[in-house]
Amino acid sequence: NSSTNQNLRTPIVAVLGHVDHGKTSLLDKIRGSTVIEGEAGAITQHIGATAVPLDVVSQVAGGLVDPTEFDLPGLLFIDTPGHHSFTTLRARGGALADIAILVVDVNDGFQPQTEEAIRILKETGTPFVVAANKIDTVPGWNPQEDAPVQQTYEAQSDRVRQSLDEELYRIIGNLSDEGFSSDLYWRVQDFRANIGVIPVSAKTGEGVPDLLTVLMGLAQRYMKEDMEINLAGPGAGTVLEVKEEQGYGTTIDVILYDGTIRPGDTVVVGGGNDTIVTEVRALLKPKALAEMRAEKRFEQVDELRAASGVKIAAPDLDDAMAGAPVRVVGDRDVDDVIEEVEAELASAQVETEEEGVVVKADTLGSLEAMANALEAAEIPVMRAEVGDIAPRDIAVATTVNDESHRAILGFNVDVYPDAEQRAEEKGVHLFTNDVIYQLVDDYDTFVEERER
Ligand code: GTP
Ligand code: MG
Repeated sequence: NSSTNQNLRTPIVAVLGHVDHGKTSLLDKIRGSTVIEGEAGAITQHIGATAVPLDVVSQVAGGLVDPTEFDLPGLLFIDTPGHHSFTTLRARGGALADIAILVVDVNDGFQPQTEEAIRILKETGTPFVVAANKIDTVPGWNPQEDAPVQQTYEAQSDRVRQSLDEELYRIIGNLSDEGFSSDLYWRVQDFRANIGVIPVSAKTGEGVPDLLTVLMGLAQRYMKEDMEINLAGPGAGTVLEVKEEQGYGTTIDVILYDGTIRPGDTVVVGGGNDTIVTEVRALLKPKALAEMRAEKRFEQVDELRAASGVKIAAPDLDDAMAGAPVRVVGDRDVDDVIEEVEAELASAQVETEEEGVVVKADTLGSLEAMANALEAAEIPVMRAEVGDIAPRDIAVATTVNDESHRAILGFNVDVYPDAEQRAEEKGVHLFTNDVIYQLVDDYDTFVEERER
């Protein structure tokens, strides 16, 4: 039945991978192809997300997807740029994304952020496929614009095909090292037992039809039950980013994964200090690229349903926290909703000890991921907070007895200049990185060297 069911929400697909491996290009390609297909405007650009309706998926997939076989409304893609950790994408203690695409550059292979992404996918149990990107860079490649993989394969010489296969099997080997069984996607029978590897080019569009087909099929086959929600119910979402916007003050970029939100709604938002209760002043969506002007970059919408990305303008959002829950109160008791949000925040709280290192991270989700990694490495944590490294963190770090705990581990955060100076004066060691396990390794090395 091609009519979309009112109570099936759009599956959320996170696109992740190492810096420059082509996440944004892949999404651009998916958007761009539909413009060529005369579907400009059909795809909606959200805050940090791109919604692709089923009929457009079907068009881009070039007949590989028959819309009458599906009743999910399409796919919502979330781009996670290099600076923005996938760990932000949390919801109700689990992963916000229903599925993920792990983008791997075929020339570059597995890199630190690829490994990091895999560890988090494993931890959260998120199903994923691998897009082996940039196949057009294989020497001697004969490009076939927007063609499915099989057609492209047939157009290549034996030598080129062999080179590509070598790269693909290297990726399959890397996945195996990480404990995942995988194969080229057309050999995979059960996508829950085996990871499908899909050769693609974000530049030429080759393999993009296959990628969309696999995603749509996976979602329809295995996730339909999870997509059954009360779309008219009170909205629930996760804060992606807290941002100052000219004319609106502090706003929050939110991925709505349940229910509906409207201007005027009372919402409860997780904050750094206190839980925020406020009223939605405006729901904002970015304007199409062509009509974007500095003064009016957004347009207001009257209502939004899951799943979608939106910027919320409301008073008192200064203390809102990336990764924190957002809940529309609706006809419930506001205190119950506050309790719900606080319980969720508490469940994400890091277990701390009297003696240990100080941990800072950019979002609630990355703080959680840091805490897990430190626990696994048996490194005690005295304090864990979201935010940049500030002078008061140095003050906290100086209270420890064990010199080797006189350290601050910052994931994806900045260091205030006065904090840096203070750290030097007080002999506090600062470690910053945007890869969690490297941060842990650096700290371990420091401890080992001290003990020598
Ligand atoms: P971050 O957001 O910084 O993490 O990077 P990203 O993963 O979004 O990579 P992006 O899409 O910005 O691509 C990085 C570079 O690779 C750009 O110069 C792209 O043009 C190039 N690129 C991406 N995909 C392909 C591809 O399939 N083929 C070729 N030849 N180049 C590509
Ligand atoms: Mg990008």
